[in-house]
Amino acid sequence: MKITMIGAGYVGLVSGACFSDFGHVVTCVDKDPAKITALENGKMPIFEPGLEALVAKNVAAGRLSFTTELASAVAGADAIFIAVGTPSRRGDGHADLTYVYAATREIAASISGPVVIVTKSTVPVGTGDRVEDIIRELCPDIRIEVVSNPEFLREGAAIGDFKRPDRIVVGTEDEWAQGVMRDIYRPLFLNEAPVVFTSRRTSELIKYAANAFLATKITFINEIADLCEAVGANVQDVSRGIGLDNRIGSKFLHAGPGYGGSCFPKDTLALLKTAEDFNTPMRIVEAVTQVNDSRKRAMGRKIIQALGDDHRGKTVALLGLTFKPNTDDMRDAPSLAIIQSLKDAGIQIRAFDPEGMEIAGPLMEGVTFATDAYDAAQGADAVALVTEWDVFRALDLPRLAAGMNAPVMVDLRNIYSAQEAGRAGFTYTSVGRGTLPS
Ligand code: UDX
Repeated sequence: MKITMIGAGYVGLVSGACFSDFGHVVTCVDKDPAKITALENGKMPIFEPGLEALVAKNVAAGRLSFTTELASAVAGADAIFIAVGTPSRRGDGHADLTYVYAATREIAASISGPVVIVTKSTVPVGTGDRVEDIIRELCPDIRIEVVSNPEFLREGAAIGDFKRPDRIVVGTEDEWAQGVMRDIYRPLFLNEAPVVFTSRRTSELIKYAANAFLATKITFINEIADLCEAVGANVQDVSRGIGLDNRIGSKFLHAGPGYGGSCFPKDTLALLKTAEDFNTPMRIVEAVTQVNDSRKRAMGRKIIQALGDDHRGKTVALLGLTFKPNTDDMRDAPSLAIIQSLKDAGIQIRAFDPEGMEIAGPLMEGVTFATDAYDAAQGADAVALVTEWDVFRALDLPRLAAGMNAPVMVDLRNIYSAQEAGRAGFTYTSVGRGTLPS
């Protein structure tokens, strides 16, 4: 199969590299010449475990290439994937489809034979219809089908998720297009990955419903965590106790500082807009977005409280800035809201993140950056664990405490226990692990 991937961002690059690894010939197109030159030189624009090696292997095998020239890349393609960004539109929260439609028009101007066009970007219900209209209008004599094929990749685990998916969703009722999609995903079909063939609109909605449900699950357990703190219960045991019920499932029940990242915040907002457009309000999802937003700020207050009344002028060491481990992505990271509330309260911040500091730097005026966790904690009045990177899971706690002005720890990811932190001399606060009032 000859595949063109439009957009060499997170989704496009991972998907393109994985498709080439299946044996297909893939060309990734991106408008950004600097990105393409970097990729040609083996440099990845994002941090994703395993990606660099996968790209290098398939480039060397002659199956994967990069270009800025869309027209030549789509010539003779069996399938063209649209994997451009669909950020939140400034002001109203709708998904911004400018890049999707621009790519669609460019595709229409360049194709000459039958081709399946696949939307991989997360797009609101009905976008595939519009993509089809645009192409049919501009190319009335060419056989095309537009398929929705959402991705469910988690950053930091994207290659594994692509190659061992829980399911593949293919939104098209056209037999020819279904056949092309079967050929493209053949190795996964042979491994018996579950496939949901459905209508295009349903497929588009599945993506939003999945992300909104997961965001709801996280937000639910976060509110239970608050209640645990109030009543002297333990949220981790609640998660285990409810998660063992197969109908609930144990995943996505880790209480923390609120969800962030490139998908949940924007997709929940976009789903709310779609619901509004179709006069079917989604009150649960609306509450989820509000609760999650206020939670991020509440985490700042939690740290301030741990510092005590005279917190002004004190220093907090923040460990972890990215929205989750194994990524350098800072989009909607809880650390951003936490830092803002600390700064507003006159608190100094020393931060360390294994991969995120380059991107975080320009977003965090006034924050000093450290070389590791111990350097960050040097002279600090509290250490706050914000992202659960592996390097923070086995810290030498006595060493960390020894360098601090006051050994206070606020563990927003429940990495440690009160006992082990206490043994190292820390005054310890975590999330949803309440103690009985004495
Ligand atoms: C998510 C979806 O999982 C993926 O299927 C979709 O395609 C894109 O969005 P990603 O944004 O990479 O992937 O991150 P994910 O691992 O899902 O975590 C999202 C956020 O939820 C993070 O901020 C994480 O810290 C938080 N989270 C996750 C929790 O707070 N608790 C949990 O139990 C799980």
